[in-house]
Amino acid sequence: QHLVPIPEPSGLPLVGNALDIDFDFPLGSMLNFSDQFGEIFRLNFPGRSMLFVTTQALVHELCDEKRFKKSITAVLAEVRQGVHDGLFTAHNEEPNWGLAHRILMPAFGPLSIQNMFPEMHEIASQLCLKWARHGPVKPIMVTDDFTRLTLDTIALCAMNFRFNSYYHDEMHPFVEAMGNFLTESGSRSRRPGFISMFCREANRKYEHDIQVLRKTAEDVLESRKEQPTDRKDLLSAMMDGVDPKTGGKLSDSSIIDNLITFLIAGHETTSGLLSFAFFQLLKHPETYRKAQKEVDDVCGTGPIKIEHMKKLPYISAILRETLRVCPTIPIIAVEAKEDEVVAGKYAIPKGQPIALLLAKSQVDPAVFGETANEFDPERMTDENFERLNKEFPDSWKPFGNGMRGCIGRPFAWQEALLVMAMLLQNFNFLLDDANYVLHYKQTLTTKPKDFYMRAVLRDGLT
Ligand code: HEM
Repeated sequence: QHLVPIPEPSGLPLVGNALDIDFDFPLGSMLNFSDQFGEIFRLNFPGRSMLFVTTQALVHELCDEKRFKKSITAVLAEVRQGVHDGLFTAHNEEPNWGLAHRILMPAFGPLSIQNMFPEMHEIASQLCLKWARHGPVKPIMVTDDFTRLTLDTIALCAMNFRFNSYYHDEMHPFVEAMGNFLTESGSRSRRPGFISMFCREANRKYEHDIQVLRKTAEDVLESRKEQPTDRKDLLSAMMDGVDPKTGGKLSDSSIIDNLITFLIAGHETTSGLLSFAFFQLLKHPETYRKAQKEVDDVCGTGPIKIEHMKKLPYISAILRETLRVCPTIPIIAVEAKEDEVVAGKYAIPKGQPIALLLAKSQVDPAVFGETANEFDPERMTDENFERLNKEFPDSWKPFGNGMRGCIGRPFAWQEALLVMAMLLQNFNFLLDDANYVLHYKQTLTTKPKDFYMRAVLRDGLT
């Protein structure tokens, strides 16, 4: 075999490429490196290095779960300080991953998710009321209000907890603690460990935020124990569920890890998706017109119902295409189970973390042609989507891979379809600034930065 060295930008002693990364928008730096180096490159950081792959062909090879597995690196390793071996942050081999996965899979199945429709509907209606009250001239901070929506929805559906975020300008202390915890986890992952030891104030705050998160989840669990209900939600699934394989049950601390995990994993991702989807609609008037017509034809002016969800193929195509060009989780990481050679020429040692740069591989011209970067929902109609996945497997990966793929996908899909339908049915939207150009805000996920729109109630509708 003829091996080829993996290219890397030159770096500085000790810090490597750490200073080459834009602190506020690391993804931007990685996309730039990808334009410079092509299908694969290496970045070096204090004490570790990361490989990046950027094409569908390489992503496909690395999605082979016989040879590669999810890697818990950087930010995820820090997030473990708060949620340990919860579903998102567990290593494959940790018994709590298998236990929670098997117990929770049915709770995320189609029937359970359908049962959550009324509560999703209630929170979405609250958003409509709020925007109706704003009137047509007030600029709406899109990502903030969608974050309120998705957080309230997951908390209500998962554990019958109400944040009532629309009624407060300031977020609930839990939400504030969660935001700080995630931001600090990101900062820690970019600092060498010995420097973090000296950040005493930041460390104290980090511990405090983790306490707030855990105490809130613990209170929810305790109050459910004191007042048992017949509610079939994720919390009851975790409390009552028995693992079909081992007969084991989830411990209280594992339930707390996973409650927090759902709140973290289940809100920014979906709110980013909705924000990007509206951005794309407003930049593509023809798509917007077709989307609104589909909603009008299917739902009319009456209440949106669960039956409508299966009859909105064009809205589905819009959501898929949005996640292709603007994946809210733009990178997932894997590592080799044994020493490997990929693409027949790049040597990769066992355990080496490799980032799959979805934000690049999902716009690979070898798959999507010269217009790969353009938003075009026609690519993602049910028929074309099926063909795409056959011809170019793993070209569309916004929900991750294989056994470690997103357990919340049906939940997110139903919520996003419902919210798109309800908003298009009730409002006409405008960009607040017709010249708005997309910029990204990056935390654990990406979303549009400083994106404002205005909502005009449609005539004859309530
Ligand atoms: C895993 C994306 C919504 C819960 C993942 C992964 C991705 C992803 C890419 C794999 C991460 C990795 O490989 O490191 C998304 C997107 C969403 C979304 C784009 C919305 C549009 C949700 C929702 C929930 C959720 C609503 C919860 C209700 C989880 C959990 C995992 C996960 C628990 C870990 C699964 C495991 O490893 O066993 N998601 N997600 N996600 N997601 Fe989602």
